[in-house]
Amino acid sequence: MKFRKIFSPVCSRLAIPVLTIAALTTALTGSLTAHEEQYSIDVPVSVNALMVTLIDHSAHYIWDFAALQREITDEEWRTIEYYAIQLAGSAPLIALGGAGDMDDAWAKSEAWTSYSRTMTNAAMLALDAAKNKDKFLLGSTGDVLVASCEGCHDAFKPGTPTEGITHQPDYDYLYHLFGR
Ligand code: HEC
Repeated sequence: MKFRKIFSPVCSRLAIPVLTIAALTTALTGSLTAHEEQYSIDVPVSVNALMVTLIDHSAHYIWDFAALQREITDEEWRTIEYYAIQLAGSAPLIALGGAGDMDDAWAKSEAWTSYSRTMTNAAMLALDAAKNKDKFLLGSTGDVLVASCEGCHDAFKPGTPTEGITHQPDYDYLYHLFGR
């Protein structure tokens, strides 16, 4: 009896701040979620589509120019520079997940982040190579790049692409460029 008498006023006095904190927390979490929604954008395309149209595409500029038997012209170094920037930016992009069924699950994995980071680092080296017109560096960077693609594909890529989109070697103007 005695305990209840003391306990109930304590309880009611506590109840107000506790309820207030609970209400504030709810309001705060609500507004944080709204804030996150306002300032984040879901990647609307799949990892597979980015692989085919962006990553494979830009990586080929690095490999194919590195394999050229002649000197790379100034204009071509500029082209390599642009594609190296594109590739460097694409790795953090695929670390955000994407619209494919598996994309978000893949992006949560540590190995995914690690392969993506290696790809970005290799692209940054290609950027250095382009700025310094260093063909030897471009070649060795190409090897690091292949390792990042193959490592990640061995770990994550299903035997056939989930959407049936595959790289078509004749899809862009690269090959015309080398055919001249
Ligand atoms: C972080 C992991 C990761 C890295 C790094 C990566 N890929 Fe991929 N790639 C994938 C996954 C996973 C798929 C399959 C996606 C699917 O099927 O939905 C894929 C699919 C592809 C495809 C389309 C499917 C096909 O078989 O034709 C191409 C082309 C491709 N990657 C090229 C590359 C190239 C080139 C590089 C390196 C410059 C690279 N990828 C780096 C994970 C990676």
